[in-house]
Amino acid sequence: PTTDYAPAVVVGSGYGAAVAALRLGQAGVRTVVVEMGRLWDTAGADGKVFPSTGAPDQRSMWFRNRTEAPLATFLWLDVVNRDITPYPGVLDRVDFGDMSVYVGRGVGGGSLVNGGMAPTPRRSYFSEVLPEVDADEMYGTYFPRARQMLGVNDIDPAWFESTEWYRFARISRKHARNTGLRTTFVPNVYDFGYMKREAAGQVPRSALAGEVIYGNNHGKRSLDKSYLAAALGTGNVTVETLQRVVAVRRDTDGRYVLTLRGIDLAGRVVGIRELACNRLFLGAGSLGTTEILLRARETGALPDLSPAVGTGWGPNGNVMTARANHLWDTVGARQATMPALGIDDWDNAANPVFAEIAPLPMGIEHWVSMYLAITKNPERGTFTYDPATDSARLNWHISQNQPAVAAAGQLFDRINRCNVTIYRYDLFGDNKPFADTFTYHPLGGCVLGRATDLYGRAKGYPGLYVVDGSLVPGSLGVNPFVTITALAERTMDRILAEDGPADRTR
Ligand code: FDA
Repeated sequence: PTTDYAPAVVVGSGYGAAVAALRLGQAGVRTVVVEMGRLWDTAGADGKVFPSTGAPDQRSMWFRNRTEAPLATFLWLDVVNRDITPYPGVLDRVDFGDMSVYVGRGVGGGSLVNGGMAPTPRRSYFSEVLPEVDADEMYGTYFPRARQMLGVNDIDPAWFESTEWYRFARISRKHARNTGLRTTFVPNVYDFGYMKREAAGQVPRSALAGEVIYGNNHGKRSLDKSYLAAALGTGNVTVETLQRVVAVRRDTDGRYVLTLRGIDLAGRVVGIRELACNRLFLGAGSLGTTEILLRARETGALPDLSPAVGTGWGPNGNVMTARANHLWDTVGARQATMPALGIDDWDNAANPVFAEIAPLPMGIEHWVSMYLAITKNPERGTFTYDPATDSARLNWHISQNQPAVAAAGQLFDRINRCNVTIYRYDLFGDNKPFADTFTYHPLGGCVLGRATDLYGRAKGYPGLYVVDGSLVPGSLGVNPFVTITALAERTMDRILAEDGPADRTR
């Protein structure tokens, strides 16, 4: 294969990658971003970039014959699963036996598909999770910077109280209050001002038209509109799409050489090439980055990588559950897709839980209150390299999610007792009131301070950096992208100040 060269290469285009690309570009470093998904900027035959959740098509999922919406029998019921043509769609579900991991694919990574919730973790818990990271610096500089760059905004409380679109959240709040629990607004990167105009019928609807998980056609400040737009604006950054990194090695000059497999929109391999660089920034996400490094270590391409690569993975304690309300507690046929409120019982030392009040936008009254609970589950998974498939396998047993189920159960048992309500058993299969076999929040695999130094520098390999969610040791207590972004800002500040110019050879 021919070998191209760039001073710096960023793998992936999610949160960590986008921060790296912008800060490298601003520092004048010519940077190539390689992303396995496509660029989502062109409208399809229906005039829209992303498919509607109610009528998913090939754009919705990554090379599937059928869509696999979470809880598809009921949640997002508009999203009845459909047969589709395999295509590089925007949402992927990576199945590892007892654990399935949802991830975004495309320029912008998870920001294209996620619920936009942008909380900052409790400072005390952040310090428990990452004790060696200077919390003053994080809370004084990097969290505020991340929030500002991402366009985090708060819902107007008066509008929240009055709009039919958040009735479902107000009902859940009432039941939390009856239980003596506290709720808190959750900031978001969806533009709440835009949402208000949607409600007023002034602009095309997105969050109020059931859009989320397969992309939002309007309103959401995904990374392609924030960090990545700014990165391209520096003139030093280019993005190459439909290019998957399948190997990395080091040449005799000490440069990193990536093997890239290019595909077309039908998934046919259209080219294998090599791309060399002096500085390699891995932002392929918890699964992607861990797989790249684990493969490199196990195949002997980068044999001195830390034994900690592939360890310390967790699903951020994610568990979903649902309650059935009394007939008088209607949740409304109209529900915004962006959650805006959470039950915050994280300070309950005996049973910390942060439970987001999730919509169930079915277009009809269903009396269901839905939640995504984030719990403090100490269990961790590890990855092993499988040479037969050349991929990373997650070792995670269903029993490892028991602490999360138990914690969510304690909280929602209380809520049910105080409100004389019951769980819904029909939503998650197997007559189970808790969904404990998938996560939206994969974290860890190349943990900060273990597989890397305290700034994401891969141990044993100068010029090789990790910048994404794989650095976070399995748990954060809140949704992760603001923290991933802030840690990447911290890393890039340090690397650009200390590690010298990237362009040794030009
Ligand atoms: P991220 O996963 O964003 O990006 C990795 C990128 O690398 C992807 O674009 C991928 O295609 C690419 N890639 C992977 N392997 C590659 C390879 N070998 N070669 C080239 N490219 C490769 N979080 C939150 O804070 N608030 C929320 O409301 C939600 N809601 C939510 C809903 C849903 C449905 C999902 C799936 C996820 C969320 N999340 C969330 C989680 C959040 O989106 C997630 O934590 C971040 O996107 C992770 O950011 P990273 O930078 O780690 O990687």
